[in-house]
Amino acid sequence: MTSRVLVAYATKNGSTAEIAEAIGKELESSEVQVTVSNMKDVSSLEGYDAVVIGAPMYMGKVLKDCGVFAERYRNTLCSLPVAAFAVGIAPVEPRSGSVDDVLRKLAVSLVPVQPVSATVFAGKLDVEGLSFVYRKMVSLLKVPGGDFRDWKVITEWARGIRPLLVKQ
Ligand SMILES: Cc1cc2nc3c(=O)[nH]c(=O)nc-3n(C[C@H](O)[C@H](O)[C@H](O)COP(=O)(O)O)c2cc1C
Repeated sequence: MTSRVLVAYATKNGSTAEIAEAIGKELESSEVQVTVSNMKDVSSLEGYDAVVIGAPMYMGKVLKDCGVFAERYRNTLCSLPVAAFAVGIAPVEPRSGSVDDVLRKLAVSLVPVQPVSATVFAGKLDVEGLSFVYRKMVSLLKVPGGDFRDWKVITEWARGIRPLLVKQ
């Protein structure tokens, strides 16, 4: 029987969406049908057998959409296998906060949903493409720009969560 998996992401500047797409591609198979969607566009979890939730960090917080989504679908999410990832600059720049701290914040934003797996991926900071206010914040924080996403790490995580999300 085909399993249906939703990869629901939050994003401001698009890099988490691209990570979600890569995870979706890795999970997709003849037995697993994957939908990748901005969590703002999700109107129901009906028919899904598992959910992957991903959200970026901004100013020491998990993007608010993540908590809103977890709260809105808390009952269904508590009854399904859920895997979660946060995206930030913390894995490559400790001045933005520790990875453990990001994991704690991700867990808090998902309460009462308890993921079967949770991780933090290094993200992308395209300083030129940011709004004036964000550029100012980034320069004050002395956070480096660049694309730090490690696609090998991302696809390996996706492969690892597959048996936790769907029966094979
Ligand atoms: C204004 C600003 C604040 C940020 N704050 C944090 C932070 O507190 N911790 C962190 O790890 N990364 C932080 N980042 C890095 C973002 O999480 C990273 O750029 C991520 O890839 C953005 O995801 P998005 O493109 O999906 O919006 C910040 C980036 C910006 C522009």
